[in-house]
Amino acid sequence: MSESESKPTPVTSIRELSRHIGQSVELRGWIDNKRSSGKIAFLQVRVTGGTVQAVAGRKDVSEKDWEDIERVTQESTVRVTGTVKEDKRAPSGVEIQCSGFEVLSLTQDYPITPKEHGTAFLMEHRHLWLRSSRQRSALRVRSEVEQAIRDFFYERDLTLIDSPILTPAACEGTSTLFETDYFGDKAYLSQSGQLYLEPAAAALGKVYCFGPTFRAEKSKTRRHLMEFWMVEPEVAFLEFAGLCDLAQEFVGYLVARVLDRSREELKILERDTSKLEAVVPPFPRITYTEAVKILNEKGNPIQWGDDFGGDEETILASQLDRPVMVTKFPASFKAFYMQPDPENPDVVLGLDLLAPEGYGEIIGGSQRIHDPDLLLRRIQQHNLPIEAFQWYLDVRKYGAFPHSGFGMGIERFVAWMTGLTHLRETIPYPRMLYKIYP
Ligand code: 4AD
Ligand code: MG
Repeated sequence: MSESESKPTPVTSIRELSRHIGQSVELRGWIDNKRSSGKIAFLQVRVTGGTVQAVAGRKDVSEKDWEDIERVTQESTVRVTGTVKEDKRAPSGVEIQCSGFEVLSLTQDYPITPKEHGTAFLMEHRHLWLRSSRQRSALRVRSEVEQAIRDFFYERDLTLIDSPILTPAACEGTSTLFETDYFGDKAYLSQSGQLYLEPAAAALGKVYCFGPTFRAEKSKTRRHLMEFWMVEPEVAFLEFAGLCDLAQEFVGYLVARVLDRSREELKILERDTSKLEAVVPPFPRITYTEAVKILNEKGNPIQWGDDFGGDEETILASQLDRPVMVTKFPASFKAFYMQPDPENPDVVLGLDLLAPEGYGEIIGGSQRIHDPDLLLRRIQQHNLPIEAFQWYLDVRKYGAFPHSGFGMGIERFVAWMTGLTHLRETIPYPRMLYKIYP
């Protein structure tokens, strides 16, 4: 055997391992778990894409390597060499028959052990908690969802517009703004990229943005984060009915994609996938006025003109196995830019998509006012500073056009897909009320 043939191939991921069945490989990773009888050891090694089991017989490795196997602890960094064996029962599909083992960095007193820990403790150790299989699975589903979003819009010819994070004005109401000093002026962390997308739609037709958004939500709920990621399409000449169709097609596409590509992760998260398989368009559509009627029939005391809270959303969406689209809300509690319904100017052409199983609003969107005089009046009615919106009014002044768009919070969508009850586990480092560590 020549030197190059006998040298193990360095491999970095589960996917790569499956291409080296029967061959000698070398990989580096972390010890997830270990069992040893004194004669044979089973080591779960975490690498890119999951964990792989390395099996080491005492007589198959050198004395020194066996000592390392004996002393290695959970979360130590290791180097493993061995032969890749196919193992259809293993989630990774492979196993490594160990011929060499080395501890690269020995971990002592790792705070997260296989026993149960409280959430407060785990949140304090979020940087380490990420290593657990459920957390890794949730983040892989998130990554898949983000890729699917980009693919969906790319395939439909939307141009990605990166909207600014530091902004001079509010988009979604002034009560949730994070204020910061901007060289003596006030600036705010962006609540939504929408206002910046509308001018871009006049330049490029169909556009979307996808980035972090910020809301100083003074409420402590499982559905609210201070910093969350939002994807927002904005389409020129798209009117309200087309917007509802787009939101429906988008969600149908994403759910199918997660079911197709994230099976293994959903299994680890013990997600009941039959619930997701039922999520096939068309989704039922009801108006706000119909929704109030349904809620009253169910004993909820909401009155026409009140905004929905979590309870109302849960009641409405738990009736069906698919998301429900609620449309045409009272103008009184919706954002200033929403187009009034030509049939009833008390309501606006806005939509909220409510996910089933208690996940609530995942999408909010609307047709936008494109009449400059009406928009100006609305800005005044909402007591917004006109100076800060002059540029936004320009979109109506120079070539006005009907247009519509929506925003979807990624964490809400991922929570629904993964079955996680709290948004904090769907983002690597959640920002919550009074909590910004680590
Ligand atoms: O309904 P919202 O406030 O709509 C907008 O911001 C529009 N400007 C979007 C647009 O039309 N381009 O927010 C949109 C979505 C919600 O449906 C929800 O999924 C998510 O953003 N969201 C939050 N997610 C986590 N934490 C929060 N505090 C959130 N606030 C909104
Ligand atoms: Mg909303």
